[in-house]
Amino acid sequence: MTPNVTFDFTGQVAVVTGGSKGIGEAAVRGFAGAGATTVIADMDEATGRRLESELRSHGKDVHYISVDVGSDEAMKNLMEQAHALKGSLDILYNNAGVAIAGEAAVTSESDWQRVLNINLGGVFRGCKYVIPYMLQQGKGTIVNCSSTQALHGFLGWAAYSASKGGILAFTRQAAIEYAKQGIRINAVAPGTIMTPMNEKIFRESEDPDQLIRTWNNAHPIGRFGQPGEIADLVMYLCSDAASFITGQTFVADGGQSVRGE
Ligand SMILES: NC(=O)c1ccc[n+]([C@@H]2O[C@H](COP(=O)([O-])OP(=O)(O)OC[C@H]3O[C@@H](n4cnc5c(N)ncnc54)[C@H](O)[C@@H]3O)[C@@H](O)[C@H]2O)c1
Repeated sequence: MTPNVTFDFTGQVAVVTGGSKGIGEAAVRGFAGAGATTVIADMDEATGRRLESELRSHGKDVHYISVDVGSDEAMKNLMEQAHALKGSLDILYNNAGVAIAGEAAVTSESDWQRVLNINLGGVFRGCKYVIPYMLQQGKGTIVNCSSTQALHGFLGWAAYSASKGGILAFTRQAAIEYAKQGIRINAVAPGTIMTPMNEKIFRESEDPDQLIRTWNNAHPIGRFGQPGEIADLVMYLCSDAASFITGQTFVADGGQSVRGE
């Protein structure tokens, strides 16, 4: 779970939605380890508080703030509270998401609304409420979490894929709207990453071992990714090393999307 690359975000404030577990947790560890005041913005309070106290015990400046990214008011409050910590908001990683399976014709209206509201709506609200602070500062970086499922078909995930595709279009749009004001906005598209989200999918499948083998084999590199491998990419995009990059989608999938079969 520990990121592999060394970055320095000393003096910056980073907000990670869905930061209690999985890829978000790895990003929290990464930003906090790189010196940022880091906000774990998640609805899983027990896990988020445990992570907060673990990292604080190692001297990191980490704050858990409870939020449901599906709520407009909660996201507005999140940014107000995060900004109040140090008087700045420099980095937002819009990571929180849910995965609900279902082909197009069997996806219920409520599942469709839930997936779109959390995954795509959460990214929209994060940007909507952080950008005014970044405009005041004249700088800021945002990374939105999409998926390789936004780039190619993946049977049985109609709403999820649509939500992730929307994130790419929204990222391009917001990037060009605020590029001149010093705000860079990019997206990451992970392949399969071993996190609680996928552990649940494996647990609930008829043959978890077979599913794990199939998904491992789908990646030319021969294995799933680890959360820290996405956190490294997110931190790169938020760093000055990526100062000329905005509106882009970065795929980290062990070659899955280019295998051509
Ligand atoms: N794991 C993968 O293989 C994979 C692949 C591609 C993209 N992604 C995307 O990466 C992101 C993180 O996925 P993960 O696998 O780490 O998931 P995860 O389920 O392991 O962790 C997600 C975290 O988000 C939080 N969360 C969920 N809904 C929330 C809400 N409404 N408000 C606030 N917090 C909420 C959860 O409490 C949890 O801590 C998601 O956007 C997911 O779609 C994951």
